[in-house]
Amino acid sequence: MTPAPVNRLELIRPDDWHLHLRDGDMLQAVVSDSARQFARAIIMPNLKPAVTTTQAAIAYRGRILEALARSGLAPEAAAFEPLMTLYLTDQTAPAEIQRARDSGLVHGVKLYPAGATTHSDQGVTDLLGHCRPALEAMQALGMPLLVHGEVTDPAVDLFDREAVFIDRVMRPLRHAFPALKVVFEHLTTAEGVAYVQEADGPVAGTITAHHLLYNRNALFQGGLRPHWYCLPVLKRERHRQALLQAATSGNARFFLGTDSAPHTRPAKEQDCGCAGCYTARHALALYATAFDSVGQLARLEGFASLHGPAFYGLPVNTSRLVIERAADRVPECLDAGAGAQAIVPLAAGEWLPWRVLDTVGDPGSSPLDDAP
Ligand code: DOR
Ligand code: ZN
Repeated sequence: MTPAPVNRLELIRPDDWHLHLRDGDMLQAVVSDSARQFARAIIMPNLKPAVTTTQAAIAYRGRILEALARSGLAPEAAAFEPLMTLYLTDQTAPAEIQRARDSGLVHGVKLYPAGATTHSDQGVTDLLGHCRPALEAMQALGMPLLVHGEVTDPAVDLFDREAVFIDRVMRPLRHAFPALKVVFEHLTTAEGVAYVQEADGPVAGTITAHHLLYNRNALFQGGLRPHWYCLPVLKRERHRQALLQAATSGNARFFLGTDSAPHTRPAKEQDCGCAGCYTARHALALYATAFDSVGQLARLEGFASLHGPAFYGLPVNTSRLVIERAADRVPECLDAGAGAQAIVPLAAGEWLPWRVLDTVGDPGSSPLDDAP
């Protein structure tokens, strides 16, 4: 007898370990989408100018909290906690890492190889050549390095940049700093997955919902589709399969990071459109759809709510959240509010089979619960 499908899933309120919230009108437009589902999020520092100091990170955190307060969310969502990060540069000093650690508000330092992606021009040109003092301080203080794992060498094919990064940057880095905590962000390849699975020491990887659900055909289905364009770019089906296997394996080295990266519609729909998919609004529904596709909904809670806090050394959330199997349509376009331009979410106009129902108080019941 085949088991009855799970129609309702209650889980510890999840966290998003990789999120772009931007600033100003865009921040105001998007912050509630994440806060409704997630208790905390690691906030990417690639603003203009980049968040390179603890002082700037604390000020940015203040703007996020103000935006949350203005968004009129229910108390549970309004308690959303932004976990701040610093943007690593060739000049980052060990004293800045110490200030970040002492603040208690900065939880990671982000490596953008210069030129790799959106607002990465202040990024690192030669990691082991310029950043050893900062990396030493991070290793000593247990401050994680969050890595955009792509080389920028124009001679390397765009689709190979993650695999080449492992050999050219990740292995030498981890050889020099074996105790450094490293998160290989937004994994997109079988090679990246294998590296995280096999590496000795404190290494983990985040996986986006879109890399679990789509392969690179999505970029070209029926025409060129800019809203599926992100970096690292979607890869072949065999890579998607490897990511899905890793995310649903129960391995605590893999956890949820949406990499939701909003851009205005005109910024995406132009002759040189920006990289980034806006997934925050339907993030959990997208992840649930991916886990359900391989019959592994029971593993969603570990991936979304348990593995990340364990790696970052933070407590597991105490509140809970419920998702249910119910068709929900992703809007064609999100009204980004007064002064802001519209955002087209990933999978705009498509129906998803799951939606976030509600939050519930008290922990205690089983994470999987069949509806009657
Ligand atoms: O697609 C992406 N968008 N990849 C990144 O690494 C950055 C992000 C953004 O900030 O828009
Ligand atoms: Zn990102």
